[in-house]
Amino acid sequence: MKKLTHPRTMQRLARSWQREGLPVALVPTMGALHAGHASLIKHARRRVGEAGRVIVSLFVNPTQFGPQEDFQRYPRSEAADLKLCRSLGVDAAFTPKIESIYPSEAGRAFSTFVKEASLSQGMEGDTRPLHFQGVATVVMILFQVTQPSLAVFGEKDFQQAAVIKRMVRDLWLPIETIVSPTVREPDGLAISSRNAYLVPEERRHASILWQCIERARARVRGRIDPTPAAPLRQSLTRQIRNAPGAELDYIQFFDPDTLRPQTQLRKNHRIALAVRFGHTRLIDNGAL
Ligand code: PAF
Repeated sequence: MKKLTHPRTMQRLARSWQREGLPVALVPTMGALHAGHASLIKHARRRVGEAGRVIVSLFVNPTQFGPQEDFQRYPRSEAADLKLCRSLGVDAAFTPKIESIYPSEAGRAFSTFVKEASLSQGMEGDTRPLHFQGVATVVMILFQVTQPSLAVFGEKDFQQAAVIKRMVRDLWLPIETIVSPTVREPDGLAISSRNAYLVPEERRHASILWQCIERARARVRGRIDPTPAAPLRQSLTRQIRNAPGAELDYIQFFDPDTLRPQTQLRKNHRIALAVRFGHTRLIDNGAL
């Protein structure tokens, strides 16, 4: 496995693979790799085959964190990440420094951003106003540097995947965007790097997000008439309030294509929720 830190050397290698006609998959990550990332990497490998190339980027992107968010304490574990990538047969790990992605010297300071203006509104966009602009910008940079034919994202960040798909469509990027299913702990908690922040008491109650998804699904599935969203939201809100340490940020029911909020719920609509445990903010979503 090659480890590349400079965008120029990464881009040169990616271009040489492209000239050879090899399919190239990118798995963009912020490091602190876990079983969820391993599943994205395996998905990428299945799609490009043994002859193709898989690139994993490891970059904690400062522009997607708000000023009060966890950029500084976000878990970093490069040595373990590289070991995992190697064990999964990754061809290249791209580990750029912040200054090479966002130069700040006078005269060449970074000043170009990508803003998706529709799907990034609501849900995460309400709580984290510049988050998706930071995500779209860095993903665009990673696409330019690694020149992939396909890129794999996790379904846990459903809104993020929708924003990126829209960016790819609107800007005619020749990249297939694949969304890979969420990997869960045995109690249903979606695997996430931020789970590492949870103290044991919080961890015990963190499966409340999954319980709410399952409860909402049980209410909607198998019914001919649509299910009204308001009473369901109320009863899920009560359930979250009863979980020790849990503080609800939002529960949203939405259409999977437009991400518009729905008041009458049918199968295939989705639920997304964000819940705080102390300083840890967890998100999850699922089809109803
Ligand atoms: O999902 C993530 O880990 C990040 O938002 C991404 C896509 C790597 C961009 O920094």
